[in-house]
Amino acid sequence: MRLIATCPEETKPALLIELQSLGASDIVPGYRAVAFEADAALFYELHLKLRTASRILQVIKEVPAKSPEMLHSQARRIRWSELFESRHGFIVESLGDDADQGGMAPKQVITQVRESIRDVFERAQGQAPPVDRSEPKVVVVAHLRHGRCMLSLDTSGKSLHKRGYREQGHPAPLKETLAAAILLLAGYDGTQPFFDPMCGSGTLAIEAAMMAVNKAPQIHRKKGEFHFEWLKSFDRDLWRVTQDRVRAEKLDAPRAPVVAADINPAYVAMAQKSALDARVEKYMTFHTGRFQDAEPPADRGLLVTNLPYGERIGSSEGDILKLYAEVGDTLKQKFAGWQAAILVAAASPYKAIGLKPRRTFDLMNGSIPCKLLLLDLYAGSRRTPREAL
Ligand SMILES: C[S@@+](CC[C@H](N)C(=O)[O-])C[C@H]1O[C@@H](n2cnc3c(N)ncnc32)[C@H](O)[C@@H]1O
Repeated sequence: MRLIATCPEETKPALLIELQSLGASDIVPGYRAVAFEADAALFYELHLKLRTASRILQVIKEVPAKSPEMLHSQARRIRWSELFESRHGFIVESLGDDADQGGMAPKQVITQVRESIRDVFERAQGQAPPVDRSEPKVVVVAHLRHGRCMLSLDTSGKSLHKRGYREQGHPAPLKETLAAAILLLAGYDGTQPFFDPMCGSGTLAIEAAMMAVNKAPQIHRKKGEFHFEWLKSFDRDLWRVTQDRVRAEKLDAPRAPVVAADINPAYVAMAQKSALDARVEKYMTFHTGRFQDAEPPADRGLLVTNLPYGERIGSSEGDILKLYAEVGDTLKQKFAGWQAAILVAAASPYKAIGLKPRRTFDLMNGSIPCKLLLLDLYAGSRRTPREAL
């Protein structure tokens, strides 16, 4: 099968790491997407295991589409009635922005493909599937670019960032897929002691705990939630075997401690509740307290955190500057021998941390441009600008 996994452009390196390590072949990075090949067993496995993909598409065909008429006649050549049942409602989605539409508006692309599909069913079975915009079982994706249209089926259904554990109420939670990408970019592989001292709703630590016990993030999805389950090609037996195999790969205990803390007890309780819903709470340790007073949970490990920033957390600029300087001091004084990955808003005074990153990634946290700073914390490694003064 030719497949496409989509993701934000900035986290594509993390998705590439995942696809390579899970055994996908013929991997070709694209814009906000990675194309690859997989057999049926790996196809099911990837739906359960990919941590950083937003959705998975199965390529049906790429057709020439220089005009609406050409798209219509080309899409009519596809045997849609062999792909899904006419009783299942469907929709067509157009991917890409207007500039990529090659003169055809997204609405026009959708209409041409939708009517072609209905024509094919009418001809083959005398009955077209209904269009269902609220709960479609089948989502056909049309991606028009440079006069060609890639037609695919969305096989993941509900976006893969929806793991089903998120508690509402924190003002600045990370998306689950972004948290997983941050962990992979930081080099976390589930074997290092992990600490998020400003865990908020707990996303980074919960994703880390899942990795520490080798738990697939989508293993608890309910029957029918993956859209491949509604396709004629669905192999129920292989799917069951794959689910059992992936479930059996989960470890009984984390390979190293996973610790989460926050200054706000309400957020710690929220993180704990989410961890319970993600069924990883028993593999984690939670504390309430200031990072400045925290003790490292191990001699060495990986500290990953997302610093508060005025915009969404409601602190003043002066407070933030002081906090960032204290974060830097705490890292230097107490976490020598650790590595750290710190997510900060690009517009924040992150230089006040006073540590030179080994590497930086530009990421987007929703609409906020951010930087992920990867730091190696050696004993007495670097004089900070403040110490140098
Ligand atoms: C940007 S949020 C973290 C969001 C989190 N990554 C998530 O996915 O929900 C920053 C968190 O730092 C916490 N915080 C602020 N100052 C702190 C301090 N000195 N020590 C520990 N936690 C602190 C806040 O309570 C807030 O929950």
